[in-house]
Amino acid sequence: MIRVAAVGDVHMDVDVLGRYRPSLEQLGERADVLLLAGDLTRHGTVNEAECVAREFGDLPVPVVAVLGNHDYHSDQQREVTKVLAAGGITVLEGEGITISCRDVKFGVAGIKGFGGGFAGRCASMFGEPEIKDFVRTTERAATRLQAALLSLDADVLVALTHYAPVPDTLLGEPLEIYPFLGSYLLGQAIDSAPTALAVHGHAHAGVERGVTPGGVRVRNVAHPVIRQAYSVYQLDAAAPGRTPVSQGAGRGIDSLSHDV
Ligand SMILES: [Fe+2]
Ligand SMILES: [Fe+2]
Repeated sequence: MIRVAAVGDVHMDVDVLGRYRPSLEQLGERADVLLLAGDLTRHGTVNEAECVAREFGDLPVPVVAVLGNHDYHSDQQREVTKVLAAGGITVLEGEGITISCRDVKFGVAGIKGFGGGFAGRCASMFGEPEIKDFVRTTERAATRLQAALLSLDADVLVALTHYAPVPDTLLGEPLEIYPFLGSYLLGQAIDSAPTALAVHGHAHAGVERGVTPGGVRVRNVAHPVIRQAYSVYQLDAAAPGRTPVSQGAGRGIDSLSHDV
């Protein structure tokens, strides 16, 4: 079993320091890796990034992150990434990383992603250049996620995004903002590889569990959704890849509770 801890939308600033750290101190006994699903800061400033590095850096397990839209707000995403990296946090934006956990090669492909909506209710490459730019941004993100997933030589493969790849985990969000919460193209990218689990954030009012059309289990780990310092998902390294929906979306994956 690979134990994947994950949380997103921690929206750090000085007033949040210490909210997560006490629960993270025992992380090494509970998980093999920690994934951070974006919106790590409140407004994307360097000072807030330093808070993230203090709260989530120097942990006993590897920490892998993607940025979220909030982390771009101050146009300092490069500086934010540098601060996180200096704190020992690996930030992915269209890349993958393989981590050795005991005898298992654990792969993570990560990208922030973007909006666009879901099949039947999505933006398309039509009309004004601004709309085409919007759609092109999503398409590029999905293409890069797919390439990162397919490039990894891993026994267990996880996709990490900020934006949602499926509408399932948006339940509770207003329908009107679904196109700003995710894109089905991310789900297609995830389905194109033997992905065992897709983790995302961004949808504060959504729900935790969903599944892609191809049967990949999806978990929305936005902190307001999971309401704990992190959730832990156990992935069976002996039976990686997707579980057919008909066999149950929860098979081989369990969420453990660790309250803040
Ligand atoms: Fe957020
Ligand atoms: Fe967000």
